[in-house]
Amino acid sequence: MSVVDRRDFLKLGAMGTVAAAGLAIPLGPSVSAKSASRLSDRDFPRPYRTAFRRPRVLKPVPGGETWDDVGRTLLFSVTAMASTAAILPRLVTPVRGYNGLVPGPVIDVEQGVRTRLRVRNALPPTNPIGGGSFATSTHLHGSASLPQYDGYANDLTRPGQYKEYHFPNFQDARTLWYHDHGVHHTSPNIYGGLAATYHLHDEYERGQLPQGEFDVPLLVSDAMFAADGTLAYDDDDHSGLWGDVVLVNGAPWPVMKVKRRVYRFRLLNAAVARSFRFALSTREPLVIVATDGGLMPVPQPVAAFRQAPAERYEVLVDFSRYSPGTLVDLVNLSNDNNVDYDHTGKVMRFEVTDAAYGGEHNLVPSALETGAIGLHTMALTRADAKEKVSLRVHRDDRTNLWVINGKSWNDVVDSRFREVVAKPAIDEVQLWEFENRGGGWFHPMHIHLVDFRVVGRNTNGGKPFPWELGPKDVVYVGENETVQVLVHFAVPKGSTGGRYMVHCHNAPHEDHDMMVQYQVGDNDPENDPNDPIAAAPPVWDDLPPDKPEYRPAVALPGW
Ligand code: C2O
Ligand code: CU
Repeated sequence: MSVVDRRDFLKLGAMGTVAAAGLAIPLGPSVSAKSASRLSDRDFPRPYRTAFRRPRVLKPVPGGETWDDVGRTLLFSVTAMASTAAILPRLVTPVRGYNGLVPGPVIDVEQGVRTRLRVRNALPPTNPIGGGSFATSTHLHGSASLPQYDGYANDLTRPGQYKEYHFPNFQDARTLWYHDHGVHHTSPNIYGGLAATYHLHDEYERGQLPQGEFDVPLLVSDAMFAADGTLAYDDDDHSGLWGDVVLVNGAPWPVMKVKRRVYRFRLLNAAVARSFRFALSTREPLVIVATDGGLMPVPQPVAAFRQAPAERYEVLVDFSRYSPGTLVDLVNLSNDNNVDYDHTGKVMRFEVTDAAYGGEHNLVPSALETGAIGLHTMALTRADAKEKVSLRVHRDDRTNLWVINGKSWNDVVDSRFREVVAKPAIDEVQLWEFENRGGGWFHPMHIHLVDFRVVGRNTNGGKPFPWELGPKDVVYVGENETVQVLVHFAVPKGSTGGRYMVHCHNAPHEDHDMMVQYQVGDNDPENDPNDPIAAAPPVWDDLPPDKPEYRPAVALPGW
């Protein structure tokens, strides 16, 4: 379908008719419900034919461990490189991922053990998707990192260079993810494969939720393919990309065999634009136990919940209530302003296997004891806020750019990275309000560095949705929605703060150019010890190639 057809179609969606109906409708003569991919019928993957895959877990670099008076630091190393992936039944798909894997390898760490992550850029000079520069910047999303290790969009590592990122890991247990953040090219870079999860553990999470085999990351994304199996890319004039194939951990609509017990799924929406509304085909509830920033004080059973790009929700599903052989599907009921195709309402299938299976943490808890940071975040009240910051998000029709209070990242660049939308003191609490007056788009808004508490919405009776009742760092700002969040601007111990990005996590919006920054603390930007670009520059890579080692996969029954 041509870009123009798709735009007309999106406009229709913006009027609320098509999208609100969940798109189980005839799509009109110029838009076919199957036409995002150009694959022949034989090459198009069929739902529920592929085995579920667990992402590999990366081991630290042998001998890379260091100690100082604070404690221990582990070294990890990944190489961003071109390779191929087996996504389609008969064709091979070129990808660009960390260690060539899509998704990239999981990094698993314990609270209190710091990490260094060396990211080597061995990518070709230009991205075959879009033809832009393949300079990268790596963001560990969910980490309170120093600005120079936070994946600042213009802190670029060019092909042939590497950069070592330092992560403090003092925060509460949570599901983080590392992904590319290169200026103007984040969307094609993530879409092509530069994304992976990072699991931070602590005693609360270890002591209360399923572990090991029963702790399962699900990176959900979508893709469209050219006839030869390569990834196609069409972001509808920077409004969003809507693939017709749903991938879980890089496999189309996979089937996972499960034992009859409680599982914990770490759901990450790793799509560049699509939002999902997850539910179980059995209509049993999904029990939300953790949000972006970790454990939720009171788990929330929900029939369905919506999840925008970059949001993380951990959910428990109790398969002990099903008899062996039962098929339970994770489905997508969709949300306004997504473009849906024949099979985008499906996500993955669980096939219940053995007799009841025991083991630890095999209950769905009704309350959770959370770490100190989560406790603090969820106790914030409006009375704690010193300032209110209002951010209006919209599309500027003159420039055709997505903006925040009329500003874009271009303005930040033009100011030599000085311009900020807010300047909280270290440890100050502020009330931030995101306002989306348009009915045509939703915007997942992300504030770097911090965890926040969602305290108000102009919809849902003024209250956060049940699934938002935990610490967050991305908030779904839906059509005509205004959302308030309470933010505590804490910094890692010893840090004097600095400049951090705020942006929409619809990656085409972010790239064009819905991103601004704020400054925490008083560092002089002319002489900032944490200057996001100058303080820790990349270096040319003359190291020998890595021989990455992975932890042996946890056995998956039956595959
Ligand atoms: Cu997940 Cu600024 O990013
Ligand atoms: Cu947006």
